[in-house]
Amino acid sequence: MESTNQLQKDAPIGVFDSGVGGLTVFREIMQQIPNEKMIYFGDTARVPYGSKSKETITRFSRQIVRFLRTHHVKTIVVACNTASAYALEALQAEFDIPIIGVVEPGAKVAAGTTKNGNIGVIATEGTIGSRIYNTYINRLNPDATIYGKACPLFVPLVEEGWLNDSVTHEVASRYLAQLTDKDIDTLILGCTHYPLLRSTIQKVVGGRVTLVNPAYETAVTLQHLLSDMDLLNPKAPSPGEQQYQFFVSDKAERFLEFANSIIEHGIPTAQTIQIEEY
Ligand code: DGL
Repeated sequence: MESTNQLQKDAPIGVFDSGVGGLTVFREIMQQIPNEKMIYFGDTARVPYGSKSKETITRFSRQIVRFLRTHHVKTIVVACNTASAYALEALQAEFDIPIIGVVEPGAKVAAGTTKNGNIGVIATEGTIGSRIYNTYINRLNPDATIYGKACPLFVPLVEEGWLNDSVTHEVASRYLAQLTDKDIDTLILGCTHYPLLRSTIQKVVGGRVTLVNPAYETAVTLQHLLSDMDLLNPKAPSPGEQQYQFFVSDKAERFLEFANSIIEHGIPTAQTIQIEEY
């Protein structure tokens, strides 16, 4: 296990994802705990993680944690569902700073939300294959039945910006028919990109199904964690101090373009780093 310096309240939070999708988590943290500084890393050279093996994702995630630690982060959020499913446990065992993922917070809310015990989960192939949401939900609600569905076309559709497009609606209808047939009353948006399709998905599944957004729930969990550890930053960064920094492993311009379409105040720069060196 690596050792940690004394954690500082004004140290940044590290947030990482396989690419741009984790910005949905970043955005929730920005809104819910606005005093915090953050370092975001998007592994744009090696995206997608959704179709890769546990070993590969764990190796990538380990390098990213090592990189984030060079910025003296006080905690790390694995903002990617697939990395949370496959690598979180290993990271928590190897590094001695608090590391949280996005799966447990979403699973917890879904387990408490369902009335009829039928919960749908949509995510990448990897997350669905890991059955991680089933594990967490059934720990809290052993009677719940979980219906998983991989929706691989959602990620490129979001990155293309087709959030409310008729093509996206058609794709969603085909994917989600298998879940609505099962009388689900709760649906977890178990992939970083899916909260951006929220309105299309809600239209397809109907108003009686409650959508759970793990990005939002993760920011809530993070706030509680920092508060319990007395690590919340008590004051906003002073003017001129850099509150947010963005790093990617490839194609910074493309990252910025997407980031600026979803982050309200805009992101001026992103730096490309060689993540394999960590
Ligand atoms: N960030 C990934 C997730 O939440 C989706 C994109 C990918 O496959 O890397 O699972």
